[in-house]
Amino acid sequence: MAIPGPDVVRALRGIVGDTHVLTEPDVAASYLTDWTGTWTGEAAVVRPADTAEVADVMRACAAHSVAVTPQGGNTGLVGGSTPTPGDDRPWVLLSLRRLDTVGDVDSQGRCVGAGAGATLASVHAAAAGAGLAFGVDLAARDSATIGGMVATNAGGIRMIRHGDTRAQVLGIEAVLPSGDVFTRWRPLRKDNVGYHLPALLAGSEGTLAVITRVLLRLVPAAARTAVALVGTVDVAAAQRVTRSIEASGRLIEAAEIMTRAGVDLVAAAGVRAPFDSGTTLLVETAGDTGDLSEALAAAGSDVVDAVVEAGPAREAWRLRESHTETIARSSTTPVVKLDVSVPLDRVQDLVDRVDRLAAAAGVRAVQFGHLGDGNIHVNLLDVPLDDQCTAADRVLRMVADLGGSISAEHGIGRAKAASVGLGRDDVDVAAMRAIKSALDPCGIMNPGAIFADP
Ligand code: FAD
Ligand code: MLT
Ligand code: ZN
Repeated sequence: MAIPGPDVVRALRGIVGDTHVLTEPDVAASYLTDWTGTWTGEAAVVRPADTAEVADVMRACAAHSVAVTPQGGNTGLVGGSTPTPGDDRPWVLLSLRRLDTVGDVDSQGRCVGAGAGATLASVHAAAAGAGLAFGVDLAARDSATIGGMVATNAGGIRMIRHGDTRAQVLGIEAVLPSGDVFTRWRPLRKDNVGYHLPALLAGSEGTLAVITRVLLRLVPAAARTAVALVGTVDVAAAQRVTRSIEASGRLIEAAEIMTRAGVDLVAAAGVRAPFDSGTTLLVETAGDTGDLSEALAAAGSDVVDAVVEAGPAREAWRLRESHTETIARSSTTPVVKLDVSVPLDRVQDLVDRVDRLAAAAGVRAVQFGHLGDGNIHVNLLDVPLDDQCTAADRVLRMVADLGGSISAEHGIGRAKAASVGLGRDDVDVAAMRAIKSALDPCGIMNPGAIFADP
């Protein structure tokens, strides 16, 4: 079944208009397969224009027990943005992309309201137009939407400086599964009246409500930035270099790590590093406190090679941001893609253990990520299909052993739903399920995401 019956489709067309309900497989296809290409579900695609239409769609879905998966830019990496493959209950893929308005920047209050479907790039542009900045950035900026970023609590390359997406949310408007509209919309920095529901919706991955608008905190734009690519022998040395730069009084805007395997892969695709090295650190700093070369000199023999650039340094960032797509194209089987964090003093240990595990299994490991946050993206390439679950499970258990998190920033989605127990204890999971049942008593919101269906 998957596509709701004719009566429901008629009702949905009555709400959003005929052209915004897609039921033909070839027309709906791009919405129904995720970015990684490994998750494909079936559903009618519904594209509302505003909050009122979202509310009416939710009322219709609730009345007919239709499952709903909200979707923004469909750049999620954990199979959360498309319906569960093979699940034949009636399902709606609710695309929020038409809710793409970005409001006027409030320069005094340092905030801006954005529709759930506004892209990250459009929010950056609006903030920059007012001489401010939005504190979260990631490579999928042209497609990822504000609704999706809040729903996944995206991290990204500036988290070390400004925190995650949750930390940028001042207010939210969301439609509950019942169709009721929840609004908390005050540009207040401090507001402690009871539970922080906007914070709860951040990271809820479409399982509690449909986010329709977000009031976002803005930050002062960095006055002057510098970027360095630094070659080091290993990850621990890169961490010492980062600390040394910090000690020089500069603000670290980003501290990203690339291991040899990833840099070589990206080089083969045409984006070359300026030197050969075991590990490459990309560090971006803000603040006018002298030449970055001096800070690097203070790091002594930990710096094996370095290229320092003033300004945005596009090539250095291209090297880092080419990783995801290059990795996806380079594996003979779907990439086993894990996104983990460990305490900062265990990062080297994690990277070494993953390399050893991959070597023993005869597969390639590409590790890179947000060093400053202890967040490593572990990618295992060429893993035979039958071995993929075991390979993922081994890495996630290793991370749990190291006191880390099995999901640092991409979320759980469907890809890691079976492993939630590795990251949270039974009481914790039961409390999360109780919240889910309270807000979504009929279980229509993105079933199978975060919690594996029985
Ligand atoms: P989608 O993929 O459409 O959806 C993601 C999840 O959010 C799904 O569970 C969906 O149901 C839910 N959702 C979407 N919109 C709503 C809504 N309006 N209301 C309720 N639920 C909703 N992520 C990082 O954290 N850091 C990175 O550095 C990073 N870099 C990336 C680089 C590349 C090249 C790519 C392809 C992805 C990257 N990602 C990164 C992952 C992805 O971009 C983020 O998870 C992003 O937040 C997803 O936004 P989206 O609009 O594409 O959401
Ligand atoms: C990144 O940091 O580039 C992303 O989170 C995407 C990825 O893990 O590939
Ligand atoms: Zn990342």
